Amino acid sequence: MEVMQEPFSAFGAGEVALEPPGALAEAIRALKEEKQAVLLAHYYQDPAIQDLADYVGDSLGLARQAARTRARMIIFAGVHFMAEVAKMLNPDKKVILPDLEAGCSLADGCPPEAFAEFVRAHPGHEVVVYINTSAAVKALADVVVTSSNAEHIIRQIPPEKPILFAPDRNLGRYLQRRTGRHMVLWEGTCVVHEAFSAQRILELKARYPDALLLAHPECEESVLALADFVGSTTAIARYAAQSSARTFIVATEPGILHRMQRENPEKVFLPAPPRTESCSCQECPYMRRITLEKVYWSLLYEAPEIRLPEDLRQRALRPIERMLELSAGIP
Ligand code: 13P
Ligand code: SF4
Repeated sequence: MEVMQEPFSAFGAGEVALEPPGALAEAIRALKEEKQAVLLAHYYQDPAIQDLADYVGDSLGLARQAARTRARMIIFAGVHFMAEVAKMLNPDKKVILPDLEAGCSLADGCPPEAFAEFVRAHPGHEVVVYINTSAAVKALADVVVTSSNAEHIIRQIPPEKPILFAPDRNLGRYLQRRTGRHMVLWEGTCVVHEAFSAQRILELKARYPDALLLAHPECEESVLALADFVGSTTAIARYAAQSSARTFIVATEPGILHRMQRENPEKVFLPAPPRTESCSCQECPYMRRITLEKVYWSLLYEAPEIRLPEDLRQRALRPIERMLELSAGIP
């Protein structure tokens, strides 16, 4: 029987038997039950983690699940800002992120001090921030949005009120085109979605002329201009399930293909190509830090835990609660 030593330094000494294959998944299931833990996973997670999760969804769905769970502990298979939102909504529960280094280029590219300066430079603006931000940035916002509800929420802001939007400039520009609202934009990007190549997508479309292009709004304008549908990860999965088309090119992180293929076995899903043929830059390096082994260890040791100072939690929670109220009608 193979024995794996505890793989990362946040934990003390320990070991787990990894053989036979499937033993780790079984051990995770048993620990989840024993510890009354719920496993929430984003669509970009490793398929093996998605298959063990109690819920798989987009940022809005995950926030809603976190708000309603009765579990004692939340194991969050996603990135830091998502687990932080779960903690804001559940101050009395343990929220565990199996690797605290699972960040996000958008959140990292919007430091709170610089953002506070940006807000001060635009007095009187409605401060709308994407959920892909740190708690300290959310604490400066009037309302938080996700890619599922951003358009719906922006349409509810009075037309005379100027808007500041951060940090994703591609999502911001897309929302400007959709709503006709001018917005002051922070110049952030997602390392994954900015890497898709319109040129190489056109080459793929030439080989699959009937394929529909489904794109996440974090993609660059040149890619969105080619898209048949633009939406959040959940919206993309739903569109593919409901469409009569059989072939789709998917311009978002390819972790989502696992779910889409399983739910639509007769359809063909092609990952959109990145700029450089040889790179794997369409995979989110932050999401991929979460592994099945880390999920196991974090359940066993109930660590590493997300912690937030109470005053910061309360300030960041306010615009999240506003988001949940304003998007109550969105499926
Ligand atoms: P969704 O809310 O669409 O899942 O997007 C989250 C994200 O990080 C996209 O890169
Ligand atoms: Fe952040 Fe992009 Fe990864 Fe989403 S895909 S978590 S926006 S780096």
